[in-house]
Amino acid sequence: MRSLIDILDLSTQEIDELLATAQDIILNPQKYSEKCRGKKLATLFFEPSTRTRLSFEAAMYELGGNVLGFSEAASSSASKGESVADTVRVVSCYADIIAMRHPKEGAPLVASMYASVPIINAGDGGHNHPTQTLTDLLTIKREKGKFDHLTIGLCGDLKFGRTVHSLIGALSRYHNIKFILISPDELKIPDYIRNDILIKKAIPFEETSSLEEAMPQLDILYMTRVQRERFFNEADYIRLKDSYILNPEKLRSAKKDMCILHPLPRVNEITTAVDDDPRACYFRQALNGKYVRMALILKLLEVK
Ligand code: CP
Repeated sequence: MRSLIDILDLSTQEIDELLATAQDIILNPQKYSEKCRGKKLATLFFEPSTRTRLSFEAAMYELGGNVLGFSEAASSSASKGESVADTVRVVSCYADIIAMRHPKEGAPLVASMYASVPIINAGDGGHNHPTQTLTDLLTIKREKGKFDHLTIGLCGDLKFGRTVHSLIGALSRYHNIKFILISPDELKIPDYIRNDILIKKAIPFEETSSLEEAMPQLDILYMTRVQRERFFNEADYIRLKDSYILNPEKLRSAKKDMCILHPLPRVNEITTAVDDDPRACYFRQALNGKYVRMALILKLLEVK
């Protein structure tokens, strides 16, 4: 039985296979519409979500399966003090696979030690978000056609932005990748990402606070929201929240085929005036999330 806790749990070959399945689902949805008949997905969301939870649910419905779960800790027995371990032991009796989001880093890993069905990490605190990374990779594959020879700008809250941490891990396994890490000093990537991935694997990277200086070099610009829910101090959030606001004027120096990604939700990081730019891929990215989660459910349930 396999779970997905960290994107590096998957080899690059397995990621290629998942993306190939997702692309086949896009082309031939009817072929997959009964694949999970009789199976149940539990979505255990201890933190708010729109895309991840609803795309998981849509994915299971489009595979012919069913969905149960909760969308906030307050409506589960966690509010009475039940542990994650006990919760997933019990939910394993009711469902064939579990997607879990939790504010505590490592909670899905703990869940995977106690569940008797596969656990999918749907985001754990400021740590990891592997299914967002699968979504990002499918989008890069469809928009750029490759993962090698790319300069990727990651902009905004690189400290608490879990999608960034997982994406750096995944992309650092490809060839001739360069990262430009654009953030205020207070929101730089954590040391474990800088030291254990970028420096250890000799991946070229620069750290800067200037989006304008980085822009002309970028093949991909990955914007992120400043993660208000992870700050200890509201004053710091207010000071930093509008550090980067992408607008059409700033895009004038960008490559004509640059791809703009954002895991969403956005607050002020990208003005709505950018939405009609053909380089704005973030709503297509959200759609890709459903297809890649369909492919992941099939893989973890070992459905042929
Ligand atoms: N990208 C993402 O995780 O969005 P949600 O928080 O809405 O699930």
